[in-house]
Amino acid sequence: MESSRRVGIVEISGKSGRVRTPGTETVTPFPDGFLWGAATAGHQVEGGNVNADLWPLEWAENSTFNEPSGDACDHYHRYPEDIAMLAELGFTAYRFSLEWSRIEPEPGYFSRAALDHYRRMMECCLNSGVTPVVTYNHFTLPRWMAGEGGWAADSSPERFGIYASRVTEHLGDVLSWVCTLNEPNLMAMLATTGVLAMGAGERQSAPGPPGTRSPGVGGFDPTRYRMGLIAADVERMAAVHRSAREAIGSVAPHVKVGWTLALIDLQPAPGGESRWKAARERGQTDWLTVSRDDDFVGVQTYSRSLIGPDGNVPPPEEVPTMQTRWEVYPEALGHTVRLAAEHAQVPVLVTENGMATDDDEARIAYTRRALEGLADCIDDGVDVRGYMHWTLLDNFEWNAGYSITFGLVSVDRETFARTVKPSARWLGQVASTNALE
Ligand code: FCB
Repeated sequence: MESSRRVGIVEISGKSGRVRTPGTETVTPFPDGFLWGAATAGHQVEGGNVNADLWPLEWAENSTFNEPSGDACDHYHRYPEDIAMLAELGFTAYRFSLEWSRIEPEPGYFSRAALDHYRRMMECCLNSGVTPVVTYNHFTLPRWMAGEGGWAADSSPERFGIYASRVTEHLGDVLSWVCTLNEPNLMAMLATTGVLAMGAGERQSAPGPPGTRSPGVGGFDPTRYRMGLIAADVERMAAVHRSAREAIGSVAPHVKVGWTLALIDLQPAPGGESRWKAARERGQTDWLTVSRDDDFVGVQTYSRSLIGPDGNVPPPEEVPTMQTRWEVYPEALGHTVRLAAEHAQVPVLVTENGMATDDDEARIAYTRRALEGLADCIDDGVDVRGYMHWTLLDNFEWNAGYSITFGLVSVDRETFARTVKPSARWLGQVASTNALE
């Protein structure tokens, strides 16, 4: 479709909407109503998330976590200032997650206070002109659910469906976008590529008081349990997802529902073609096809991984990497958005993308290149509805603790004071003009 719009002082026209006028920069507009947001996840920012399965793992002897989450960013109490900051910066969306362990701390007991808390968060967004994109589960499970066996338990689709139904009854009128599950394919990706989450391989004991060991709850033994992500196959996770989707649809049919997938840009290294093909199928495309019945698919990507005959080939020494040791490869965004659109055949929402670095200029450069790739996808007709940057706040990055900084805003670990980084202002400007200059 031909278009002509005025962005700032530069006239733009043509299919791509892009123009290069001598002496001026290129301006790339995004579609009207495009959502510009930042993302967080409850356990990584809220703090005091004591009833989640990960909490005792973080404190267990020989923990795989470099440090416990503790008070995190105290976002549970400070969300009004965080959402106000996001809106002032120019963002139009906020992706955050609900903590199942707060909402249903015991099986079948739903905390009205916790549900009201999340309702206030959503109202706070809406009052600031920010569209909430709400994740119903971002990795952490209630301890009792972990005790039942987590996602591997036969009860998990029904349990998650009941939770989704109660949440939607409480929040449905203020909801518009829901991500049921965050990266349910992560374990399949790890299994097929050997690419591990950050922090793995650098494990130290958590610095808790000597001898600290949580006794576990509901049969949940933290010494035998790994992350909320017990290896679960696509059939099981699809059943969990569909159960939630049906529950949401029957209560609030206007809500757009999808799941978000970990889409590392997998590429074959010499001799690795058959392994790469299998990894892509079992780790990604099998999951993307589940999205065909959904309203959208959430794409989450940071980097690429080269797959050789024995699995992931680590980047050579001279290749620039992030704090996570992932290659700095912003082209991953355009590549995986195309893959997602091709296999899921539904609109794409970028639900995570970003760079772990203490060099904020590098974060801006990475994000600019990633967005250029995204704009090219849109030019080519891919239906992309929004971009949520990972992440709003420097936060608890799972096994790696607080040492890894993906945030647009830093957080003082003692006072919780927020400091806006230049990257937040830069991306906020992109958001408020709906264009990349
Ligand atoms: C993704 C997770 C998110 C964050 C980023 C860096 O896999 O969904 O919580 O940790 O990685």
